[in-house]
This record gives sequence, C-alpha cells and structure tokens, in this order.
Amino acid sequence: MSKNEARAALFRKKQISVEGDSGSGLKRALGALDLTTLGVGAIIGTGIFVLTGVAAAEHAGPGLVLSFLLAGLICSFAALCYSEFASTVPASGSAYTYSYTAFGEVIAWVLGWDLILEYGFASAAVASGWSGYFQTLLSGFGIQLPHAWTSAFDPEKGTYFDVTAAVITLIITFLLTRGVKEAARANGIMVGIKIIVVLIFIGVGVFYVQPANWQPFLPFGLSGVTAGAATVFFAYIGFDAVSTAAEEVKRPQRDLPIGIIASLAICTLLYIVVSLILTGIVPFHMLNVADPVAFAFEFVHLTGLSWIVALGAITGITTVLLVMMYGQTRLLYSMSRDGLLSPVFSKISGKSQTPAAGTWLAGIIIALFSGFISLGRLAELTNIGTLFAFAVVSLGIIVLRKNHPDLKRGFKVPLVPYIPILSAIGCVYLMTRLEMLTWIVFFVWLFIGLLIYFTYGRHYSHLNPLRPVSKQSENKGRR
Ligand code: ALA
Repeated sequence: MSKNEARAALFRKKQISVEGDSGSGLKRALGALDLTTLGVGAIIGTGIFVLTGVAAAEHAGPGLVLSFLLAGLICSFAALCYSEFASTVPASGSAYTYSYTAFGEVIAWVLGWDLILEYGFASAAVASGWSGYFQTLLSGFGIQLPHAWTSAFDPEKGTYFDVTAAVITLIITFLLTRGVKEAARANGIMVGIKIIVVLIFIGVGVFYVQPANWQPFLPFGLSGVTAGAATVFFAYIGFDAVSTAAEEVKRPQRDLPIGIIASLAICTLLYIVVSLILTGIVPFHMLNVADPVAFAFEFVHLTGLSWIVALGAITGITTVLLVMMYGQTRLLYSMSRDGLLSPVFSKISGKSQTPAAGTWLAGIIIALFSGFISLGRLAELTNIGTLFAFAVVSLGIIVLRKNHPDLKRGFKVPLVPYIPILSAIGCVYLMTRLEMLTWIVFFVWLFIGLLIYFTYGRHYSHLNPLRPVSKQSENKGRR
C-alpha cells in the first residue's frame, strides 16, 4: 500500500444512510414522548443524588446552582449539535457513527474508544452512587456491611472493595443478557418514580430552606463554580443516549431533536431548583456525604421522607445504570459489527437475542472498576471522555455542513458555526478544570486505543477491501 493509499484508508467514511442502518429489523415504535422519558431516565441519577454533595462542599458552596447553570448551558449547545446529527444520520451507535460519516474511520475509532471509556466509567460511577444510597437504606433496618467492603480501595480509610456496587453491576449485566424488552418496560415505571421523588424533595424541601445557609454564596470564588461545573457535568450525561434509539423511532428527523432537547431542558430545570433547595436546607460544608439528598431531609428530622427519597434515588439510579450499560453493549456491538473490535462483542446468542458474551465481559470489567475505584475518580474519568466526545460531535456539525450541504436535516443548529464552536470551547474549558491524573489516564487510554486500531481494527474493518478472509466470513456468519 502506498503512503497516500494508507492515509486515505485512515479516513475512509461510512456512507450516510438517511433511513438509518439498514437491516437492523427493529420496529419503529417510539415517539417524542417515549424518547423524552428515555432521556430523563438516562440523565437523572448519581449526579444529582450524590455528586451535588461533594461539588457543594468542596468546590462551589451554595454557588452550586451557578455550576449547574454553566454545565447546563454547555450541554444545551452540545445537545443542539447532537440533535442535528441525530436528525440527519438516524443510525444507532450515536457519536461513533456520526464521526464515521463526518470524519472517517480513524477519528470514529478514537471517538468510539473514548465512548467505551465514557459508558464504562459512567456505569461504574453510577453503580458506586447506587451503593451509597443502598447502604443508607440498609442502615435504616439496622444492617451494616463490614466496613472494609463498603467503599472503594482506600487502605487509609480501611476500605478495600465496594461489594454492593459490584453486585448491582452484575445483576444489571444479567438482566441485559436476558433481553431488553422487560427492562425497557420497567424503565418507564422507574422514571416516573424518580421524578415524583425529585418533586417531593422540591415541594417539601422548599419549606425548610434557611436563606442564611446561602451566605457566603461563593465561598470558593468563581473558580469554585467552574470546578463544580466540571463535576456536576456528570449529572447531565445521558441525553446523548436518546440518539442510540434512532433506529426504533417513528419519525426520527422530528422526534429525536425533540427528545434530546426536551429531556435536557426538564432535567436542567429540576437540577437548578434542587441545588438551590439542597444548599438552602443544609450548610454546604456538611454535604460531603454519600446520600446528600436523603441526608437533607434527615437533617431537618424528616426521617420517613428521607427514607422515601433514598428508595426513589435507588430506583432512579437503577434506570441510569441500565441505560448506560445498555449503551455500552450497543456501542461495542456497532464497533464490532464494523469489524473494528473483536467479533465476540457482536456475537448474538441464540435464545436471548443479545450479545451475551460481550455483555458479560464488559459487565465484569465494570463491576471491578465500580468496586475498586472511588466515585469521584470514576466521575472525573467519565466527564473527560464525555466532554471530548461532545467537542468532537460539535465540530462535526461544521464539517457535515461543509461536506454534505444538501442532506435532508430534520433539525438544524442555529447560528452555525458559532454555536458548535462555543460548545467545543465550553467542553474543552471544562476538561481543563479536571485533575492532572484524569488527563494522564485519558491519554493512556487513547494511546492503547490507537495501538489496537493499528494492529487490529484497521485490518479487519469492513471498509477494508483487503480484510483477512477468515475473520470476514466469521463476521458475516454472525451478523
Ligand atoms: N447523568 C447520569 C447520572 O447522573 C449519568 O447518574
């Protein structure tokens, strides 16, 4: 292969199919309301129920509401860009597929590899948040797990492994390998419960607000607000998951943008109100606990309600875990189907019609992460991966407009290129607010990804006309 051919191969692109991936055989049954429910189901979870505590106590103080506003603003720009892509390229695989059509294979691989990090660490982080609330519930019954097994590896604090987080991850993995229909049905009910719980928190909590707790409003200054925004950004992740349902939507070009934007708008509104009330009830420096929202009610002696909030939080966080882990398997499936990853991730097992082996492999790795690594670290890693993906997708809109100006778009980002550029700048800025260690892990991860691409994916890619025959036929048989 000549140098030029090799370079061209790196940037080979998938054709844009406006109908979505052909042959998926999925039924187009979802409408705008279903998508909004799916989005809210994927968004409200560990971020608002757990991370608000540490963000208020260590970074933003009562200015937490500004952190939520800033992160929400950046996400809304990114959401507009996701909406245009989703309404133009309604295929599963989300940002990975978008960049395969806009930028070409090597960038798509980097983004796909980055999204594996996002979904993987997000799932582990969400499981870790689940564990915090579950232990609160258990202690309500007077049950305490042995201290060493209650939290991530931290010998100084005497904890080694978060057993609860690992176990819930494996339970969800099991559910996913049994098929997703039942899970999807339960999802709708659980989303309803979590919204009711958030509304109860707002409706009751508002009467316990002590405005004095909002003073000083910015104890750590504006830099605390931006560091807080980089943390609570986690709370917004999930609206992008709406686009993974693209192939099952009745009118994707109209409904996907509505689903993405409406779910983000609803959550932003709820987050702003919840963060104001939370910091109004409890002095911010006391919020660094595993279950801050339930703790706020306990703080004002509403023990019964605190228990209900904990139960609702657990239910709500479960839906996020389900969607995140599902997103992970769907992404691995898409990348494997394209030949970039081992066929094990797209091998559909007979009975359940799910990629069971790949799901177990991913599930076990996520369980280990959730058990060993602290929630704060997991959330940072998720955020850096997601912010990177959002920035690439945003810039992708400018490229798509230039390279494919005539494509039918159900939704168009206003003020291009300004909004995509602002979105990318905002994302990169929040990335700079994350810790050095997070950056190092991120780069190591990307480096490993490139090694895999150049030794494996590049050769076995289905866009490579010279791909090795044995794997080709193997993959064909499994599609
Ligand atoms: N936004 C999701 C959560 O907060 C990931 O749990």
